[in-house]
Amino acid sequence: MTTKKPVRVAVTGAAGNIGYSLLFRIAAGEMLGTDQPVILQLLEIPVEKAQQALRGVAMELDDCAFPLLHDIVLTDDPKVAFRDANHVLLVGSKPRGPGMERADLLKDNGKIFVGQGRAIDEVAADDARIAVVGNPCNTNCMIAASQAKRLPKERFTAMVRLDQNRAAAQLAKKANVLVTDVANIFIYGNHSPTMYANFKDATIKGKSASSVINDEAWLSNDFLPKVGKRGAEIINARGLSSAASAANALIDHVRDLTRPGVVHSVAVASDGTYGFTPGIWAGVPVKTTETGYEVVKSYKLDDFSKAKIEITNEELVGERDTVKELLQG
Ligand code: NAD
Ligand code: LMR
Repeated sequence: MTTKKPVRVAVTGAAGNIGYSLLFRIAAGEMLGTDQPVILQLLEIPVEKAQQALRGVAMELDDCAFPLLHDIVLTDDPKVAFRDANHVLLVGSKPRGPGMERADLLKDNGKIFVGQGRAIDEVAADDARIAVVGNPCNTNCMIAASQAKRLPKERFTAMVRLDQNRAAAQLAKKANVLVTDVANIFIYGNHSPTMYANFKDATIKGKSASSVINDEAWLSNDFLPKVGKRGAEIINARGLSSAASAANALIDHVRDLTRPGVVHSVAVASDGTYGFTPGIWAGVPVKTTETGYEVVKSYKLDDFSKAKIEITNEELVGERDTVKELLQG
């Protein structure tokens, strides 16, 4: 029996597809540890159908009798959902459909992150960490962070971990090795088709992935677009956007931000490292520390990588300009 104090985890869009794959794993201890009790604080829109679905999800959580799940809060009020929350997972927002780009969602989704960013800053715990999943997640994260006066912007991260996991899986398939044989594959830039899955630093069984795969054309012309457009491939196949793999990536994202020493891809506020424009949220390799994380600045970029980063940076700057009315300060 654990004696740890419960951690409060707020999840928005909790009755949605990702929520349904996420909550049970958090309650089972997969995100914060199997000795860490949690209180789930679940937010849905103030529409009876959504609230009813949320109650149904909560019934199923009850029916799992998870020993670590100490309480569940259901609400349509962001200030109730975020109150004293230690982790805030911003999933709730519209997903794209076939033929859309994630940036097409900015008009509808961007404004959600103004009010939620403000509410988090007002009522969440002093140690709150915010992870944004709702698309386009980099720019939505920037919007939420721009509302914060109390919480530092470093606490606001966006998820590019699904892209890292996708890239690792594709490299493993190509090299016919286990995914655990692949390392140092990091995502730079936007969670969009312009993202750069930097295969140049990747290793397979400790050797350069480029030398093991020995097919530069495949890496540049097949692998990169495969990873960049995987979300659309899933939507075309399922008729719905990725949910279980997104929830899994969010578990990885949050868990690895609590494990000092782990290096992983996270979209964070740029300080100009790797050529990203300061102030946009860009995927980079970060190393988790005892108190937070630091951007790993030591990777050398060749001209190919620099050109790819320029493209994804330009797109992020364009998204920032599109939402400038939503940015505080
Ligand atoms: P979904 O439509 O199944 O569920 C979204 C839920 O959010 C719905 O239940 C909806 O009622 C709720 N919601 C909408 N606005 C809200 C608000 N203001 N406050 C609280 N809840 C709100 O969608 P989904 O498949 O769960 O996807 C959610 C988001 O995650 C989408 O924007 C999708 O594009 C994004 N996504 C991101 C990644 C990533 O890698 N970053 C991966 C997959 C999906
Ligand atoms: C994904 O990458 O699967 C998500 O961002 C959903 C989408 O719109 O592609």
